[in-house]
Amino acid sequence: MQLDVVSLFPEWFDWFSTQRHVRNALARGHEVRTFNPRDWTPLSGGQVDDTPFGGGAGMVLRVDVMDQALRGIYGQDPVDLRTQRRVIALTPGGRMLDDAFVDELAAEPAITLLCGRYEGFDERIVQHFASDAVSVGRYVLSGGELAAMVVMDTVLRKQPGALGHAESSLEESFSRALGGDPEYPHYTRPAEYRGWKVPPVLLSGHHEEIAGWRRMRSHERGVVGPTARPPDPEITERRRPGGPD
Ligand code: ADE
Repeated sequence: MQLDVVSLFPEWFDWFSTQRHVRNALARGHEVRTFNPRDWTPLSGGQVDDTPFGGGAGMVLRVDVMDQALRGIYGQDPVDLRTQRRVIALTPGGRMLDDAFVDELAAEPAITLLCGRYEGFDERIVQHFASDAVSVGRYVLSGGELAAMVVMDTVLRKQPGALGHAESSLEESFSRALGGDPEYPHYTRPAEYRGWKVPPVLLSGHHEEIAGWRRMRSHERGVVGPTARPPDPEITERRRPGGPD
């Protein structure tokens, strides 16, 4: 897979490429490339963004700059490019990334990730140059770079050989193997700590019972939801400024 990132901060991705699963993927022939649209801007002073029509705060990445950048990188009109490779605009209002979507992207031979900054993209970039608009959550990041890293991380770790032998992305949270449920809880030594005991079934050596217990815990988490644990009133009270009365 060829993963290209178009970002005003390409150097941020240097750190990302030091991650073990990314290095493993690169060693197996996958490719990560970064490009700075500023290198292709037709505007003076390296300008890439402008104030929004209609007023409002912040700056908007210009469509003419992105057009020139994508032409410079790929040597073709970006309107055609998106019919040949996945071109993803990262934006908070896009299609929500989930495990099934990651599987879909992981099977692509080539993806380009477009990172907006400040107030984001001129909408014509999303409409005419992108094949997809993708969100990593319903909150606003300061730019698309962290979102692009989320996409890259999730997609690259699915590539065969990216994870070590001991790890696997087959039976993990939200995978088909777990029926889309979150993963079951894990425990390791010590078997008891401060009176907190590991569930005895995990120490039993009974593989079928362990598998059954894990399926149940996983399913429970899927039904209740991982964040559905209600706040403990005692803890909330102790955190209050000034502490408990
Ligand atoms: N850019 C800013 N916020 C974002 C988000 N939540 N997802 C994708 N791209 C973004």
